[in-house]
Amino acid sequence: MSAGQVGVGIIGAGVISRHYLQNLTRFPDLSVLAIADLDLERAAARAQEFGLRAMSVRDLLAADDIEIVLNLTIPAAHFDVSLQILTSGKHVWSEKPIALGRRDARTLLDEADRRGLRVGCAPDTFLGGALQTAQRTVTAGRIGAPASALGIMQSPGPEGFHPNPAFYYGPGGGPLLDMGPYYVTALVQIMGAIHRVSAVSSTALPVRRVRVGTDAGTEFDVQVPTEHVGLLEFASGARATLITSFDSGVRRNLLELYGDEATLQVPDPNYFDGVGHIVPLHGEPEEVPAAGSTWGRGVGVLELARSVRGGVPERASGSLAHHVLDVLLGIEEAARAGTTVTIESTVASPLPLDEEWDPTAATLPVSSTPSASSDGSVPPPTAGLGENAGTTVGINP
Ligand SMILES: NC(=O)c1ccc[n+]([C@@H]2O[C@H](COP(=O)([O-])OP(=O)(O)OC[C@H]3O[C@@H](n4cnc5c(N)ncnc54)[C@H](O)[C@@H]3O)[C@@H](O)[C@H]2O)c1
Repeated sequence: MSAGQVGVGIIGAGVISRHYLQNLTRFPDLSVLAIADLDLERAAARAQEFGLRAMSVRDLLAADDIEIVLNLTIPAAHFDVSLQILTSGKHVWSEKPIALGRRDARTLLDEADRRGLRVGCAPDTFLGGALQTAQRTVTAGRIGAPASALGIMQSPGPEGFHPNPAFYYGPGGGPLLDMGPYYVTALVQIMGAIHRVSAVSSTALPVRRVRVGTDAGTEFDVQVPTEHVGLLEFASGARATLITSFDSGVRRNLLELYGDEATLQVPDPNYFDGVGHIVPLHGEPEEVPAAGSTWGRGVGVLELARSVRGGVPERASGSLAHHVLDVLLGIEEAARAGTTVTIESTVASPLPLDEEWDPTAATLPVSSTPSASSDGSVPPPTAGLGENAGTTVGINP
């Protein structure tokens, strides 16, 4: 298939699938067709909610009308599921992290190259108006030369909102691998590749407890550090301090970029919308509202689909996700060994989107296959639908 709407399938019908589907089914360039899960009842329920076909993983991977498959499983399954998607001849969109290790991430990129397929990866928050505006602001020289940055993500941990939180404290989890991708991706987007890291880490509690849902009260082991303090050095010579913690009663999401003329206070990098501030070294602060699309989760899938059709590289690419993973694993290793770790990979900052880039525009011919999103009508935009729009349980607040 090389023209028209892009057929989409989903593996993983958990909490985050609903947030993707609320947006993907409103984008006319996509035709969202089917969903699968190891838990067949979960897949059936989600399929019914959004008018999709519920299928086994095997059948979904064999479906001719599906070109991109979203991998919305837990981090420990990301590599195996993404590899299956590629070997079935389909493009992958993976939730973060792309894999648990560098070699697995590399295997996915090589396999995709070999087959002429794409690997796109979350987060796609950097395609939202807030971070796009931050990138344009810095590129336009409005803070002068960016010399350093500070990122802080502190919370009491996801057990306060997620009904199955154990995976957040297992391989591929912890605040560094769960929330770090939002911050490091934004930093690479705006300040370029990272070439060296050092860090310290700690684990406040060896055991945690589920707090919402049917398993509330159940205890589970914490297998990863729950706080990292990292020092990141960019290839440009700039540096950043990054704190990621699930050990804090105080919730804080902060990203500030320090230039030689002004500081840019960036809106929460876990969202697609928000108002930034330029604070000059000497002078009055100025508000910087988000310009461009503020549609939420799923815009990266759409940008991938349009890039496939246009024969151009996607922005939320596997190479970007691989570099971000390399940095995050470097922070983990630096903390464990008490050394500085050189980051072997590098990547170019993704180009900014046009301010007019519109997810609700129909830029591809509508296919004849009926689907949840191809009835010719696009519901009104739910602008600002971000990470936690519309739900209180199961989504990162
Ligand atoms: N919930 C959030 O706030 C949130 C936000 C952003 C990103 N994410 C990311 O999204 C991913 C999924 O998170 P979630 O909250 O939806 O988790 P979840 O536990 O609610 O759902 C995961 C689903 O994947 C299924 N699954 C696991 N292994 C599978 C396999 N091999 N084949 C088929 N299905 C399989 C499970 O049965 C489950 O239904 C994670 O990588 C997470 O980091 C979650």
